Amino acid sequence: MLYAPLLVGSLCLVFNYLVYSRRVAQWRKSNIPFLSPSFLIGHKYFWGVGSNSATVVPLDRIYQENKDKDLVAFFIATLPVVLLRKPALIKQIFARNFDEAFKTGFAVSHNDVITPHMLSQSPDKKVWKTHRNALSPMFVTTRFSGKRFAKIRNQISLMWTHVEEARLQGKPINIKEVAGMFFQDIISNSFLALDDNSYVKEGEFRKFLKSLVEPGWGKLLGVFAQMHLQRIPTLESLKFITQKHIETMKSLLQKQIKQRSQTGDQRNDLIDLLIRLKEQDQDGKLDSEMDVTNEMISLGLSLLLGGKSVATVDNMVSFTIHLLSLYPEYQERIRQEVKEAMEKHNATEFTYEVVRDLHFLNQCLHETSRLYPNTSVITRVCTEDFTPAGTDYIFKEGELIIVDPYSIHRDPEYFENPDVFDPDRFSPKNRDSKSVDAFLSFGKGPRKCPGSNVALLVASTLIGSLLHKYEVRPYSHTKQMDADDFHPRSFAIVHKDDVLVNVIPREILAY
Ligand code: HEM
Repeated sequence: MLYAPLLVGSLCLVFNYLVYSRRVAQWRKSNIPFLSPSFLIGHKYFWGVGSNSATVVPLDRIYQENKDKDLVAFFIATLPVVLLRKPALIKQIFARNFDEAFKTGFAVSHNDVITPHMLSQSPDKKVWKTHRNALSPMFVTTRFSGKRFAKIRNQISLMWTHVEEARLQGKPINIKEVAGMFFQDIISNSFLALDDNSYVKEGEFRKFLKSLVEPGWGKLLGVFAQMHLQRIPTLESLKFITQKHIETMKSLLQKQIKQRSQTGDQRNDLIDLLIRLKEQDQDGKLDSEMDVTNEMISLGLSLLLGGKSVATVDNMVSFTIHLLSLYPEYQERIRQEVKEAMEKHNATEFTYEVVRDLHFLNQCLHETSRLYPNTSVITRVCTEDFTPAGTDYIFKEGELIIVDPYSIHRDPEYFENPDVFDPDRFSPKNRDSKSVDAFLSFGKGPRKCPGSNVALLVASTLIGSLLHKYEVRPYSHTKQMDADDFHPRSFAIVHKDDVLVNVIPREILAY
């Protein structure tokens, strides 16, 4: 009885050892500098990840200790990776060598019919290109102007009411929760035509998103397993997107498509887009019982999960409000900017045009994502052997390349006084090509985040309207957060504790 597991275990060990020694020999031959690995346990700096340190902590130590190198290879447990350290090399590989290093490495098993078709995970360039083109109208921010912004104004009122109720009860504001409800209701409304009001009742869509972004061991190991095992089926409990998520997405789409076929509305949203694609495909007319195909589910998940299925906009907003609570002078500049934009557009309330003119607030959002980039690791997998121009490094097919935006963003070579929150470094006057290349919060090259402008628009609307009414003061975090404040069991950079702030109405301050 015991022989079988022993035999399988020994075979795994031998297999792992062969892979490990082959990779080390390959790095040596390819001129890629590497850190002496320990078989099976990888680099020791990663041992604390998950229990007491976030992923960026060991990555940053390795980045700092290898200042003289363009790149450095090592093992994270049994996973071999090459960390790129220089923005010029990242640009070269992510943009110019796109064809040779196109995959993100998240692909899962052969029998998975959904995730390999998702934008951020698709290992097939044709599928990726078709889906990226198909979804591109959804990322145009003018979609949010006019009537759609009237809906967003409704969200602003709901947010103000929620904040005011908490204030009157003497409670601090949980900014991540407020931002999560605001963002998710806007997304569910503008892409799926759902009329959720999360401030009153948690809708199906919010529950669905929350279950995807909650940090934990399962999620952390799931990402690791997906990167590592590639084509081997992953346990359901370790999957990022489970069968339950797929079923929920399917029934949501089915319900909305049926409704659309009955009302005949045209809303230029995801539902319209999916119906159009299906009609083109079948050369047919809209049918209320139209089958929701796997492709439609993949497109829906690609758009609604914001690429990496992490709490991106919630995070950006809560880190920004945290920083602004420590810098009242920047809050004041934003208020002044809101006032001027309203005057310029002759507006008495928030409009799309007003928000688009909040340039200093936009700089604050960029500066926050420099200090706290949401994604701790951006990945590429080499699809063939190649040598980046101007180097003698040989990247072999299958090599996993990683980039750590957090360390590059805090490198004084690219950003002076990197730990200081200074939104003016992103002003048009101060921006230079060195810092533009080194800014990696939204990725690089043809796969860079297509939703960044939507994210910035929603975040500006929320922060601009909150600061228009209130002054924000720190409550839970009275000094600037650092890596010790990050959640150890998240693949993203998220704070481990709630960000709570006090709000003081401006009319009260005026007296
Ligand atoms: C603060 C907010 C956000 C941040 C920091 C962020 C960051 C990123 C990053 C780092 C990537 C990987 C880029 C690369 O591999 O080079 C990415 C990809 C992606 N993001 Fe975002 N994102 C945000 C919001 C959004 C939103 C709101 C949407 C959708 C409405 C979105 C849709 C996507 C998609 C579809 C991809 C995959 C692109 C591809 O592989 O072609 N993102 N995002």
